Amino acid sequence: MKSAIKQVGLSSVLACLSIGVAVDSHARGSSSFSNFQSSSHFKFPFSHPSRTDRILRKKLYIYDVSPVTPPAPQNPDMVALGQSLFFDKELSGRRNISCATCHHPTLGSADAQSQSRAQGAVGLGSSRRQDGDERFDFLPRNALSLWNRGVPGWDVMFWDGRLSGNAEIGFISPAGDDTPQDFTNALGAFSAFPITPDEEMRGFPGQLDVFGQPNELEDLTDSDFVQIWERITARIVNNDNYDELLDKAYPDVAQEDIDIVDISNAMGAFMTEAFTALNSPFDQYLAGDNSAMSESAKRGALLFYGRANCAACHSGNLQTDFGFHNIAGPQVGTGRGDAAPLDLGRGAVTGNAAEDFQFRTPSLRNIELESPYFHNGAFDKLEDAIRHHLDPEGSIASYNPNQIEFELVTGSFENDPATLERIFSTLAPELRTYGRPLNDSDVDDLMSFMGALTDRSSLNLHDLIPNSVASGLPIPD
Ligand code: HEC
Ligand code: HEC
Repeated sequence: MKSAIKQVGLSSVLACLSIGVAVDSHARGSSSFSNFQSSSHFKFPFSHPSRTDRILRKKLYIYDVSPVTPPAPQNPDMVALGQSLFFDKELSGRRNISCATCHHPTLGSADAQSQSRAQGAVGLGSSRRQDGDERFDFLPRNALSLWNRGVPGWDVMFWDGRLSGNAEIGFISPAGDDTPQDFTNALGAFSAFPITPDEEMRGFPGQLDVFGQPNELEDLTDSDFVQIWERITARIVNNDNYDELLDKAYPDVAQEDIDIVDISNAMGAFMTEAFTALNSPFDQYLAGDNSAMSESAKRGALLFYGRANCAACHSGNLQTDFGFHNIAGPQVGTGRGDAAPLDLGRGAVTGNAAEDFQFRTPSLRNIELESPYFHNGAFDKLEDAIRHHLDPEGSIASYNPNQIEFELVTGSFENDPATLERIFSTLAPELRTYGRPLNDSDVDDLMSFMGALTDRSSLNLHDLIPNSVASGLPIPD
């Protein structure tokens, strides 16, 4: 699989363009493309550092940005089991939705919707719609991408960090005391959760499965974690077609002893294998190749690690501090929980009003492939997402809610003076620039730097989609 997913070619770039993924023209000029190709084949000798390179390398040193340590190689049998599970609708109560529905290899490992249309809807990506009068709900948030979630140190999950931990310190999750502690890592732990909410994958009471049969998970509630996990595990273990995959992945475990941790860790292994993307021009630059990034991208990096202060939050080699900040993103869409139509983000997890409207700093790896942006998909265009940071008040004043999913638009933009005052009262102090304000050409350079964070092998991940899954259910949505 590795060799297949590393294939790069102009056709993949064109394929990506044709599905409408935002491609940054600045970073993708023909010169930077040929630089990329030559640098990937001939690593040495590195070209002589220019003055810009010398300043930039010093800044990267000061900010402690070094090459990313990749995850350990994954066990191929775990990956094979995880791949089948990830694409298999058998994991959902009604057998109508899989992980891949919302984390699709051809949609930047997400779903191209502002907020995900969950179980009960049909279709993929921006064409996903209600099925007749069948009930579906929007999930309260924008689907996160899966890039590099298996990299050691990625210990904080969800937009609000409500799941965190690692194998050494243990895991904290919405399941509280019921949280199993023997997951491989936070990514493995995460995989046990999308199957629990009724609207996401489990199904509402009375809704039959795709064969017209009752769903044995329908009588549970979202917080019956242990029973949900037992019944989903039973489905997989009792399905004879999974026998071989399970026996190979867990040769020392009797099938009756397989539990949700084993199921989840296998999906974690697959996502790590599939979505680790550490060969961007920026990675090549970090490895020493001065020719890997265009001059514009280098100027953008100088701003990012300098005057524009982006690295105050987007720090480290994955461009995230894994911390939480309020940058006053537009409050549009459904909102979440008791505060709806607002989304209090981290504040709702900790109960601390000072943390209201804070969200986890997103990694910016492969960010070009991740539209729409922010926790609620408020921004369609990457440039608008960046410009919001430079002038949040102005951005809110001119915000056009028509860029979110059409069913979510009406009346959903919370911008009355009292709400805005509340949001801006805890605005992150790091959200500032130094010296003269950024002009259009500075923003162009920042966009070029964003482009240099794209690993080209992520542009065509079609080969990740299996021909079939063990349950025999259809893969397309
Ligand atoms: C209906 C759409 C949907 C389905 C189905 C779905 N997800 Fe997600 N996924 C989301 C959304 C939305 C988020 C962000 C939720 C939040 O932060 O509150 C997310 C977040 C994640 C994250 C967290 C990434 C991070 O950076 O913290 C992982 C990992 C993930 N999903 C994996 C999975 C797996 C594995 C499955 C299948 C078992 C799955 N998802 C099924 C929509 C979906
Ligand atoms: C105060 C901390 C902070 C600073 C400084 C900051 N960001 Fe962000 N950034 C965030 C947070 C938090 C989000 C998510 C906001 C949300 O979801 O509502 C975000 C979102 C983004 C996104 C969208 C990512 C996605 O997956 O949706 C981009 C792109 C981005 N930032 C780039 C930048 C750039 C470029 C700069 C410098 C000009 C910058 N950021 C400065 C914290 C920060």
